[in-house]
Amino acid sequence: MNTQLKYKFEMKDISIEFPGVKALTDVNFEINSGAIHALIGANGAGKSTLMKILGGVYDHYTGSIELNGNKVEIRSPRDAKKLGIEIVYQEVDTALIPYLSVAENIMLDVLVNEMGNRQFVNWKQIHAAARKTMERLGIQLDTHTLVQSLSLAEKQMVLIARALAGERGFLVLDEPTAPLSQTETDELFRLMRDLAYNHGVGIIFISHRLPEIFDICESVTIMRDGHVVATQSIESTTKKQVIELMLGHRFDETYPKTKVDIGDILFEIKNVSEADGAVTNINLTVRAGEIVGVAGLVGAGKTELCKTIFGALKINSGEIFLKGRKLTIKTPHSAVRQGIALVPEERRKEGVLVEEPVYINLSMASLDNFSNSFGFIKPHAEHASAKKIINDLGVRTPNEYQKLAFLSGGNQQKVAVGKWLISNADIYIFDEPTKGVDVGAKHEIFELIGRLAQAGKGIIYASCEFPEILGITDRICVMYDHTIVKELKTADTSEEEILFFSTGGK
Ligand SMILES: Nc1ncnc2c1ncn2[C@@H]1O[C@H](COP(=O)(O)OP(=O)(O)OP(=O)(O)O)[C@@H](O)[C@H]1O
Ligand SMILES: [Mg+2]
Repeated sequence: MNTQLKYKFEMKDISIEFPGVKALTDVNFEINSGAIHALIGANGAGKSTLMKILGGVYDHYTGSIELNGNKVEIRSPRDAKKLGIEIVYQEVDTALIPYLSVAENIMLDVLVNEMGNRQFVNWKQIHAAARKTMERLGIQLDTHTLVQSLSLAEKQMVLIARALAGERGFLVLDEPTAPLSQTETDELFRLMRDLAYNHGVGIIFISHRLPEIFDICESVTIMRDGHVVATQSIESTTKKQVIELMLGHRFDETYPKTKVDIGDILFEIKNVSEADGAVTNINLTVRAGEIVGVAGLVGAGKTELCKTIFGALKINSGEIFLKGRKLTIKTPHSAVRQGIALVPEERRKEGVLVEEPVYINLSMASLDNFSNSFGFIKPHAEHASAKKIINDLGVRTPNEYQKLAFLSGGNQQKVAVGKWLISNADIYIFDEPTKGVDVGAKHEIFELIGRLAQAGKGIIYASCEFPEILGITDRICVMYDHTIVKELKTADTSEEEILFFSTGGK
């Protein structure tokens, strides 16, 4: 790409509707080459939709798009690719082909082209080119590995690598950092700067993490309810201003911790190890009304710990007690029946039914609550509680009948969390519940967790966001290398101390 040439895309008066939803209204948005621009807004504000229009996913929008002042037509993904626009979508899984290798996924465009032209596919070259792209990204993955065996973070990296495999002029990253560790994020940022400032790539960065936006972007566009409310240079604004513009009201960025009297031991894990060593020798107790944090970096074993307790991974040795009674947990189903709930990390894959309406997603974890003694569902109660959760968590949907797939990424997450909030478990395990959720909704989730604690439930809260853990927990277990290495009292510890132990400090 010629870095001397300046390119500018202008999206003008863009509007789009879906049945029952006006997703965008008269949006004006501008992207320049050689710059990093942020797009921010609450869950459902229209960020992904705007970028999908740029990526040619929809053809039924109104308004126009110009490149350097000349009108261009973007009505298909092919149109977008021809203009040099590459998008890494939020729904990582839909964009990758699980049974193909890392190299094939990265080089997909080239492969499709070569095969379409009945050309000979040079596999050596494909792997070499994929390797080269990954080297630029600092990703260490075997190009022959099948994508289905990768972690979420690794899949995300494969997608970013794919976006960079072509010499594109514009790159849209829709919440790329949500599944990444700090090191991976730093690496991505280094690469983004390199692409923008040394290769002239124009980058749009979508994130719910304001510090990241202030770190990496020069300017920011703030969206609310399908409108653009402001575009500002980062220098001339503050985080507080940005949040208030996106929410449309004043906002205090502290974590609300509900005061709760902590009771007797409710849940006890003694010396539990997972069959394949995903976690080893776990000892953990949770008292009634207590929120116990599980802190650790990506890869420390937090998710594996949650899954082991929930019966999704196999327990090899050790014992689990609930209210003094020994549990035998063989499957997630048996865990649920014995009073354990898990909000899993990969919610879009494990936590929700995207083809089903919102109310079914909300009630499926607690059908017992909504059925009479003959097992018939009581639709009135089911709908009433669905409406309540939609309202409590501010889920943006026209009504409870909307198919989940039509909700924005963050709103799907709220539903995944919400369905457990109306279930009647004793122990609630949350694995990174605020990932991809906007700051406003984050508060709602914390408040609901607080209410669960008040009701005498026990809560295990796993996260790599240490400020959040410090904000809402009573006690913190720090994980490193697949086991708990340190237990800390939240009131007496700090972010530095958690980081020290989570990086293997002794
Ligand atoms: N295909 C669709 N059918 C119906 N409604 C849709 C469709 N796509 C998006 N919407 C609706 O349009 C609105 C904007 O969604 P969008 O995904 O753009 O939000 P977002 O800003 O990316 O939010 P998030 O931060 O949660 O990812 C939402 O109310 C969403 O439910
Ligand atoms: Mg989105």
